[in-house]
Amino acid sequence: MAIKRVTVLGSGLMGCGLAQVFAMHEDTQVILRSRNAKENPLKPVEENLMLLHSKGAITKDVFEGVLSRIAFTDDLVMAVKEADLVIECVVEDMVVKQELFREIEPLCKPSAILATNTSVMSITEIASKTIDKTRVIGAHFWNPPYLIPLVEVIKGEETSLEVMDTLFDYLKKIGKKPVKCMKDVPGFIANRLQHAIWREAFSIVENGIADAATVDEALRYGPGLRWPILGILENADMIGLDLSYNIQNYIVKYLENSHEPSKLLKQHVDEGHLGFKTGRGYQMWSPEQIQASNKRLREYLIEVTKNLK
Ligand SMILES: NC(=O)c1ccc[n+]([C@@H]2O[C@H](COP(=O)([O-])OP(=O)(O)OC[C@H]3O[C@@H](n4cnc5c(N)ncnc54)[C@H](O)[C@@H]3O)[C@@H](O)[C@H]2O)c1
Repeated sequence: MAIKRVTVLGSGLMGCGLAQVFAMHEDTQVILRSRNAKENPLKPVEENLMLLHSKGAITKDVFEGVLSRIAFTDDLVMAVKEADLVIECVVEDMVVKQELFREIEPLCKPSAILATNTSVMSITEIASKTIDKTRVIGAHFWNPPYLIPLVEVIKGEETSLEVMDTLFDYLKKIGKKPVKCMKDVPGFIANRLQHAIWREAFSIVENGIADAATVDEALRYGPGLRWPILGILENADMIGLDLSYNIQNYIVKYLENSHEPSKLLKQHVDEGHLGFKTGRGYQMWSPEQIQASNKRLREYLIEVTKNLK
């Protein structure tokens, strides 16, 4: 089945970003469903496009083409009835997501793929109130979705392999880097990896081995530098699995293995030190530093994704 009409449900941070992602593709018409008819959800999309244009990543024609391919409405029936793919980007609440899928299923074409952009929740559980569970699937984009190529395509217990392949191929066609997650496990693939590193990073600070800035430097100027080009498992093969085994055999007993969140992390939260939101987290952050950090990330991502094959 060819995907040509995509409906995005939810016009928050990710919903607007996803509308933009799909509309970047000339053959895709997008409907963005917002609960509030009065708000113009295209404003953040315009801002993102303006940034991309100012950095030379897109032409004016692309800019205008993307906007012309996104329509928005608050009418759920109108939004989903013609869609080949519906992707839900509403609040991370299991009951809300389950009810939304139950409500839209009879409104959609029988062939439509119903996807959720949940960050962590079970696809199988989200699909539990639908009749045809073979077409419900996870499509986990990363923020900002128009700059991060990865999309995790997650198989729920009953998702069909055909639906999986159709969505995977479409995402590839529109320039994303989809990966298949064949089991509906919390954290899918990339968040499991990220949290394994976070657990160790929090633990290193908590145990006084190094401070937060040092941990970040160690990663940024060390392994982090090669990760965009050398896969971590490719790296294991490169150094030799005999060496990888010997190192893991020695070190694994010393690594953090707690099944509870870090005590220091909880302490920061209890004391109201929430990071950028409050100006203090593991480190102190002035408004200028916060702005610079956000800018640095976006500009870096624009540069690297320009040349991504
Ligand atoms: N923010 C991220 O970095 C990120 C990354 C990947 C995935 N996600 C996932 O994407 C989804 C949306 O996250 P976000 O960051 O865009 O959130 P957001 O708060 O920016 O937007 C949530 C949207 O849901 C709508 N909404 C709220 N309650 C609703 C209800 N009862 N019924 C229908 N719509 C409702 C809101 O109007 C809003 O448009 C979540 O499932 C989140 O876990 C977020």
